[in-house]
Amino acid sequence: MIWTKKDLLGLEYLTKEEIELILTTAESFKEVSTRDIKKVPALRGKTVVNLFYEPSTRTRVSFEVAAKRLSADVINIASETSSVRKGETLIDTGTNIEALKADIIVVRHNASGAANMLARHVSISVVNAGDGWHEHPTQALLDIFTLKEKLGRIEGLKVSIIGDIAHSRVARSNIWGLTKLGAQVKVCAPKILIPPGIEQMGAVVTDDIEEALEDADAINILRMQFERDAETAFPEQLEYFKNFGITQERLKKAKKDIVVMHPGPINRGIEMESSVADGLNSVILEQVTNGIAVRMAVLFLVSQGHDKKYENTD
Ligand code: CP
Repeated sequence: MIWTKKDLLGLEYLTKEEIELILTTAESFKEVSTRDIKKVPALRGKTVVNLFYEPSTRTRVSFEVAAKRLSADVINIASETSSVRKGETLIDTGTNIEALKADIIVVRHNASGAANMLARHVSISVVNAGDGWHEHPTQALLDIFTLKEKLGRIEGLKVSIIGDIAHSRVARSNIWGLTKLGAQVKVCAPKILIPPGIEQMGAVVTDDIEEALEDADAINILRMQFERDAETAFPEQLEYFKNFGITQERLKKAKKDIVVMHPGPINRGIEMESSVADGLNSVILEQVTNGIAVRMAVLFLVSQGHDKKYENTD
């Protein structure tokens, strides 16, 4: 199949075949990072702009490394040090980046729908690096890539997503992606952190941590998003840990080879014990490494769809 989209805005808008194309392209790019000279010329002469309105370590660095491994020129714009501070809008910033002849904008924004809005207003490619509570498609793609690498398949897997579902773009993108590929997804959180309508996305809901763990092939543990009001929703961090925190004791009742994931950054001692984060079942740092290959694939593919129009259905 041939990639035809100029943007990557969310896994909701992709077909199963498009998701699989990203994953197989990422498999072929993974080898590049094992070479002495970690570079291929796939995006030579192209310019990628990382436009980040929110803090980020993994996603921003990973997109920069991915673009450089494809031989693109990379420019990083942080909202605190740009004309955003003088009141420039996202659309004006985007159209000016287009006027500067960049080819791809990678955008992270605190407003849900920001990447979609930007993609409608520029003819260059837009990649969503996380928008509000909406989607974080490359995080879900690297989670799925890592799961497939570990367990050999996605179809038929039982994956439990545990934690702050209400504020989580990672949860939404994972539910879209995993269900399209045939996995069974369960979400587990205190009732107050379960958003209405999540079942309609194809996830089973529980507030019983034992039930979320009992037959899961993998768990994806989410960060409590205190900057997005999780503290108001669930003020007692120790209470959360007592009832939902992933401990060695709880893992003893799960499958022996259960895969433990977390998108990072981790709140150690709240979402999980350090011994679980750093333990034998954890693939958290492998997820970070795989983010490079997945983002190389995404940048490469959207550059192929560069002359197309915005075509998502939001
Ligand atoms: N997982 C993730 O998005 O991490 P950052 O916020 O550090 O990019």
